[in-house]
Amino acid sequence: MSEKDPYAENPVIAWREGGIVAIDQTLLPDEVRLLRIDTVDDLVDAVVRLAVRGAPTLGAAGALGVALAAHQARRSGWSASRLKAEIGRIRDARPTAVNLRVGVEEVVPALADGPEAAGRAAVAVVDRIAAANRRIGERGADFLVEACGRRPLRIHTHCNTGALACVEWGTGLGVIRSLHERGLLDQVIVDETRPLLQGSRLTCWELDLVGIDYRVVCDGAGPFALQQGLADAVVVGADRVAANGDVANKIGTYGLALAADRAGVPFVVAAPESTIDPATETGASIVVEHRAEEEVTHFRGIRVTPAGARALNYAFDVTPADLVSAVVTEDRVWTPRS
Ligand code: MRU
Repeated sequence: MSEKDPYAENPVIAWREGGIVAIDQTLLPDEVRLLRIDTVDDLVDAVVRLAVRGAPTLGAAGALGVALAAHQARRSGWSASRLKAEIGRIRDARPTAVNLRVGVEEVVPALADGPEAAGRAAVAVVDRIAAANRRIGERGADFLVEACGRRPLRIHTHCNTGALACVEWGTGLGVIRSLHERGLLDQVIVDETRPLLQGSRLTCWELDLVGIDYRVVCDGAGPFALQQGLADAVVVGADRVAANGDVANKIGTYGLALAADRAGVPFVVAAPESTIDPATETGASIVVEHRAEEEVTHFRGIRVTPAGARALNYAFDVTPADLVSAVVTEDRVWTPRS
């Protein structure tokens, strides 16, 4: 970790004095600012505008959100049905990442014992989410050394799957950091990840923090970089993995999986068990979030299309299981296509 560990003072997300604190990821890489979240409105707003984002971190937000709602209910004298409705707003704030729902559902049973009990249950969920990432990282690194050989590897990644997205360490970026720790990482290729640039803003920031060498590419260059043999493997995260192994992840992942298959390099999905959704049979039933057209027609507030242009803004895509070499979790390596 470079000289100043930003997480020491600013946790990615945490419970603090009856409320939530979280790094505002929309301000990175230029500013590390901690948000104070004391109401359900504030939390839903932070989730919807991606100040708090990334599947495992959304799981933590869901868990902490139940405790937050319980405290607000007591402060505001909410009825049980009002509390239930407010918790439903948190659960449904974004549709694709199953972790948000899982986090909420893990803490709701603790409500019967009061807001403090819900707070303790939520903190336990957050600690478990954080602890799983190291195991994912090590298991993923083992898989890649097996698949690619014991040598410094070049890894291509998409979106942000580091501590910011996972509370600590990271899933996809956790695998990359585990390789780095072992001296088995050469370089990382990072897709910028339009339209909100989670790759160029967040992943590059995290890689700088730990002194890992990388090159950022525009998303359109990703498949060509693979064709040119610039990477030994692709490692990404996931927002929902269906029972058959189809994977929903940030828009642009599917194209990278096709290019990896064509280039004959492993395409590895790193995700906690909580991202695997047995209730979703195949990718066809995964709800893909559509976001505001302005995220595509404008860049940092500047319109980049003719006035009145319309856009399609898929936030995620679905990669079929037959393009996935392995789904690596804290407990197993699952190879859906074999
Ligand atoms: O819209 P975002 O930034 O929340 O999307 C995040 C991703 O798609 C990540 O790859 C995924 O959540 C896995 S994070 C470990």
